[in-house]
Amino acid sequence: MKSCNFLLTTFIPLLWAPAVLAHPVEVLDDLPPPPQRRYQACEPIGTYTTDWFLSTPLPDYHGIFNNTALFYTRGLTSRAISHATAHGLTTIWAVWPCYLYNHLNTTDNPMRCIHNDATKRTMFYENMSRAFAKKANGSVVVMHGADDYDKPPMDGIWGRVELPTMKDGDGVSSVGKIKDDGSEHKVVWRRKSEKVDHIAEEVKQERIEMKKRDVELGAQMACLRASEYDWYDNIDW
Ligand SMILES: *[C@@H]1O[C@H](CO)[C@@H](O)[C@H](O)[C@H]1NC(C)=O
Ligand SMILES: *[C@@H]1O[C@H](CO)[C@@H](O)[C@H](O)[C@H]1NC(C)=O
Ligand SMILES: *[C@@H]1O[C@H](CO)[C@@H](O)[C@H](O)[C@H]1NC(C)=O
Ligand SMILES: *[C@@H]1O[C@H](CO)[C@@H](O)[C@H](O)[C@H]1NC(C)=O
Repeated sequence: MKSCNFLLTTFIPLLWAPAVLAHPVEVLDDLPPPPQRRYQACEPIGTYTTDWFLSTPLPDYHGIFNNTALFYTRGLTSRAISHATAHGLTTIWAVWPCYLYNHLNTTDNPMRCIHNDATKRTMFYENMSRAFAKKANGSVVVMHGADDYDKPPMDGIWGRVELPTMKDGDGVSSVGKIKDDGSEHKVVWRRKSEKVDHIAEEVKQERIEMKKRDVELGAQMACLRASEYDWYDNIDW
């Protein structure tokens, strides 16, 4: 024991001495290193086209959203996420890697210049939303505030991008609207080729599946923290 202590107290400091002399700051500083806040250049908006989003979903979201896509209009990010989580539906917030949604205006966040510039942010979410709408299939649901349920805003991303994309495509057969407490369900659009009773059957089927999923999964929202949901209402949905 004694010789061992001798070794530790005498030789180890001696071995360190040259290092101390060469790099005095690194070795003498025994505080934990500062958090890694490495500067990252801003990502250019031009990367984030609709095709780019279509090619980069997370593995669980490679396929279509068959009767599971949930859209919403102005001011309802938080409500829509809660509803989607409770009913096994999918919103744009679940589909892509988390870093894309990071809005923090810190120099280690390469997405900061897009999220903190209204014009770029709008383009970014338009292209993401267009990709989401292209992946929607069957019957889809859109949530509106109780106040504008009868006359929902059509000049935001829903009216300008998402709905027209689904009308132009051929996967979506009907669009139903609900209120922000999840109540009511009115079909507001259906594809001409689809029969009314077919749509009714599909909507019924969708509700049954939604109930089943309630039990099977309490899906998690991985990327956004609940305390930040409201920030994403800066986007004109
Ligand atoms: C996507 O966003 C870019 C802006 O970066 C825009 O020029 C382009 O028209 C948008 N649309 C598609 C379909 O990519
Ligand atoms: C999508 O849902 C329809 C019913 O609306 C069903 O017939 C079809 O098999 C489903 N497709 C997939 C890939 O699950
Ligand atoms: C983000 O940070 C930059 C650089 O510090 C600053 O000029 C800009 O005003 C900030 N933007 C917002 C929306 O806070
Ligand atoms: C998409 O929805 C339509 C209409 O409900 C359905 O007939 C079709 O099977 C769905 N597509 C896939 C790939 O499941």
